[in-house]
Amino acid sequence: MDKKVALVTGASRGIGKACAQALAREGFLVAIHYRSQEAQAHEVAASIPGSKIFQADLSQEESCKDLAKQVKDTFGRIDVLVNNAGMSIDQLITFAKPSEFDQILDVNLKSVFNLTKAVSRIMIKQKSGRIINLSSVVGYTGNAGQSMYAASKGAITAFTKSIAADLASFGILANCVAPGFIKTDMTDSLPAEAQTAIMGKIPLQRLGTPEEVAACVSFLSSEGAAYITGSTLHVNGGMYTN
Ligand SMILES: NC(=O)c1ccc[n+]([C@@H]2O[C@H](COP(=O)([O-])OP(=O)(O)OC[C@H]3O[C@@H](n4cnc5c(N)ncnc54)[C@H](OP(=O)(O)O)[C@@H]3O)[C@@H](O)[C@H]2O)c1
Repeated sequence: MDKKVALVTGASRGIGKACAQALAREGFLVAIHYRSQEAQAHEVAASIPGSKIFQADLSQEESCKDLAKQVKDTFGRIDVLVNNAGMSIDQLITFAKPSEFDQILDVNLKSVFNLTKAVSRIMIKQKSGRIINLSSVVGYTGNAGQSMYAASKGAITAFTKSIAADLASFGILANCVAPGFIKTDMTDSLPAEAQTAIMGKIPLQRLGTPEEVAACVSFLSSEGAAYITGSTLHVNGGMYTN
């Protein structure tokens, strides 16, 4: 097969959908992963010639392994893995439940570990690959009411730096894209006061778009990014990140 293959998780909507469409414009065949939104995943696939959809609940280890296998069996290779699927449960630490923290870690962090592990075997055999993990500005800054989510996203940064070192000698590059506040279902669900407070912290005075995040994912998947690994590209309209 001539064309390179990109697997994008959580591509049924939001940032993942924009990543799938951007990578398709760059010439990739795209494996569109979704969990529950089958109709939306079909719509995304209809906009991308040659793409296929794959269902999996990535909070389960076996589902991550199966997804990697199904994509490899379908397309023959995986050149780019975009670990985008994610969720948030916002709660003050005092009221946060251990079961909610487990859920966030399973979906946001352990899925990235399990899928990266499975796909790395395929990429090692190919002697090339790009892994792009969606972290978040709040993994750097922290945010009131988001301790569980911020912990999961901060961990992704350390994980990515470590796998960049593990996999460099096999021609595999691993980086993070850290969005600020982007207009998707995830931010639409925030209360109006929280949205107003966020706006006050963004020097560019607007939310970002999924397409603006996808442009960074495309860049990190391109030849132009061949000397970048273990890095984080911040896409946040100038929000403070240290
Ligand atoms: N939006 C932002 O402002 C923002 C900021 C920083 C970082 N991010 C990160 O960027 C990524 C995408 O965010 P988004 O705003 O586009 O999110 P979104 O619109 O809420 O979409 C989330 C995606 O993740 C999938 N997903 C959720 N739980 C899953 C599970 N257990 N197994 C497999 N897939 C699951 C969903 O699949 P189904 O819909 O098919 O169920 C959906 O495609 C996330 O990692 C998020 O943390 C977003």
